[in-house]
Amino acid sequence: MSKALFPALFKPVQLGDLQLKNRIIMASMTRNRNIYPTEMNAEYYAQRAGAGLVLSEGTLIEPQGTEWPEAPGIWNSKQIEGWKKVTKAVHNAGGLIWAQLWHLGRAAHVLHNCGVPPPAPSAIAANGGKFRLLNGTPGYSVPEAIEDPQDYVKLYIQAAENAKAAGFDGVELHAANGYLVTQFLEQHSNKRTDNYGGSIENRIRFALEIIDGFIKIWGASRVGIKLSPSGGYNDMGEKYDDAVALYSQLIKELDSRKLGYIQVMRHFQFFDPTGRGTPINIDEVFRPLIKNSLFIVNGDFSPEEGEKWVEEGKADAVAFARPYISNPDFVERLQHGKELSAITDMRTLYLAVDNDKSKGYTDYPRAT
Ligand code: PHB
Repeated sequence: MSKALFPALFKPVQLGDLQLKNRIIMASMTRNRNIYPTEMNAEYYAQRAGAGLVLSEGTLIEPQGTEWPEAPGIWNSKQIEGWKKVTKAVHNAGGLIWAQLWHLGRAAHVLHNCGVPPPAPSAIAANGGKFRLLNGTPGYSVPEAIEDPQDYVKLYIQAAENAKAAGFDGVELHAANGYLVTQFLEQHSNKRTDNYGGSIENRIRFALEIIDGFIKIWGASRVGIKLSPSGGYNDMGEKYDDAVALYSQLIKELDSRKLGYIQVMRHFQFFDPTGRGTPINIDEVFRPLIKNSLFIVNGDFSPEEGEKWVEEGKADAVAFARPYISNPDFVERLQHGKELSAITDMRTLYLAVDNDKSKGYTDYPRAT
């Protein structure tokens, strides 16, 4: 018999009371296909259910000025009904799926939101901008400082309740890539003078209050978080020592709550288009702090590198993003040594072409 391929990635792992059949995680990816998930979205996720765990695309907790007009949400009953189709299809295909709960904060744009400025910890715009659907190349808009962060904590918690009603297996707080939670964490975007700003203890309060709310609904082992300590994306990033101090304290707090997992992105070029980020060796710096949760790593890993990280104990599982776009059967291809397919049309990553949302979405074939 031939030797099993990727034995470390294919070793099942326990995530609380859930058994993941392998350590290959389908990462969250914005695909901008429907505000209310449909059978087509269900088919897309079910095709990818071979992953040990599927993470939903960023799912909005309230309407907001995202540049993706068809990013899905989970703030109303029609969306809950839509997501039920998705979770049922994934379960029927033998998979598990968690919802990634998302608020963009200042990374939303006033012009995508009927002129209403997006909310943020402080009224400080990010530098740069990437608003592909607006005329010209407008930069980020100036957000409005949130008066009471509790209003937003409550929205996240309601979304986590909705995710339960929709049949997800758990929830992940999107606290990465310069969106609302990250804006509270880092000092350049958070100049608050109340107990949500200033010290690290204050800046991590918003994230921890949301997480504690999630835990009440789901239990700690069904709650995860995604962090990007190296920054880079959406004009985020702290100096090395500040980033290490901030994210170390946050990770220790999260681990003490025995979360299901802590997902950490490493520094890589796609998420640092301007070079603003700070490379940090996440395995050396953060891995030793995680004792009670799974440590999931993310960041342009090849299957071979992911295998090595798990084999060496540098990570418990690996999240893969882009290969999942053009390889619905990514897991089966790795398992059987089949070649991976490339993305054939980059336009379809985020947009429908020829008025057909399924193109480049559900029509990538499985390997024969
Ligand atoms: C994006 O839409 O470009 C996007 C969304 C969520 C992320 C990162 C990027 O975490």
